[in-house]
Amino acid sequence: MKLAIITGASSGLGSEYAKIIDSKTFVDEIWLIARRKERLDELAATLTKRTRVFALDLTKVESFRTLRGELQNTPGVDVQWLIANAGFGKIGLTEELTLHDAAAMIDLNCRAAILTTQIALPYMKKDAHILEIASCAAFEPIPGLNVYAATKAFLLRYSQALGEELQPRKIKVTAVCPYWIKDTEFIRIAQKSAGGKRFKRLPRACKAESVALRSFYAAQMGKKICTPDLMSGLTRTVAALIPDELIMKLSKLFHKG
Ligand SMILES: NC(=O)c1ccc[n+]([C@@H]2O[C@H](COP(=O)([O-])OP(=O)(O)OC[C@H]3O[C@@H](n4cnc5c(N)ncnc54)[C@H](OP(=O)(O)O)[C@@H]3O)[C@@H](O)[C@H]2O)c1
Repeated sequence: MKLAIITGASSGLGSEYAKIIDSKTFVDEIWLIARRKERLDELAATLTKRTRVFALDLTKVESFRTLRGELQNTPGVDVQWLIANAGFGKIGLTEELTLHDAAAMIDLNCRAAILTTQIALPYMKKDAHILEIASCAAFEPIPGLNVYAATKAFLLRYSQALGEELQPRKIKVTAVCPYWIKDTEFIRIAQKSAGGKRFKRLPRACKAESVALRSFYAAQMGKKICTPDLMSGLTRTVAALIPDELIMKLSKLFHKG
């Protein structure tokens, strides 16, 4: 049974990936994972392929027991697409973050992505695809978005090395590194924190549908790092050319202005 697993499918980018997997791949079943069951059910009702909905909080260890158990109990399972997309960020200086938010960002953006990947890997074969949804925040240290940017830098490095490790098995790993996306729940959630108003200027923010589609094609082409929009490509180039110290100073000036 050919399977796609998408985490964070109840909104934003994850829902867009579900629609793309539904219309452009030959999987038999799509597993949709997030906490809000009703949102996953609504999405599942719009898809043409068979779906299963898992209302799981991926910051909780028992969720991974459930996922592993479900895979073990599904005969002949062949995970062709794994999209580790669930994630969130909070804007604010490190001292303005609650301990809960700091820990949950690390748990979801790093630990959950890695555990989901590791649990799915035994069920993946040649030509399977893994997309780890990082961010262009991964390319540079970002004061005022420090913990989030660091979690995405972690995920980017993890994806790169994983891709290399999986080359003999011909499983392709793509780290997706978009710039701000304006039509998901991410920015609203990111701004709901003590320092949430620090980043007001998000020029040329992109849209989820285009990010999902471009990164899906990039993954099909075997790209290891995908910058799916103009600003993320620019950020990657600038970060490679300019020392971190200078980038941080410029970023501070920009957001103050
Ligand atoms: N939007 C941007 O500006 C932007 C830019 C670069 C990268 N990204 C990355 O893109 C990915 C998708 O974000 P998005 O923009 O689509 O934001 P979103 O609309 O807020 O989607 C986040 C998804 O993650 C799920 N999620 C959150 N906490 C969870 C938990 N504890 N357990 C399981 N699922 C959880 C949410 O569902 P439930 O609430 O139902 O659990 C939701 O489906 C994230 O990894 C994000 O870091 C976003």
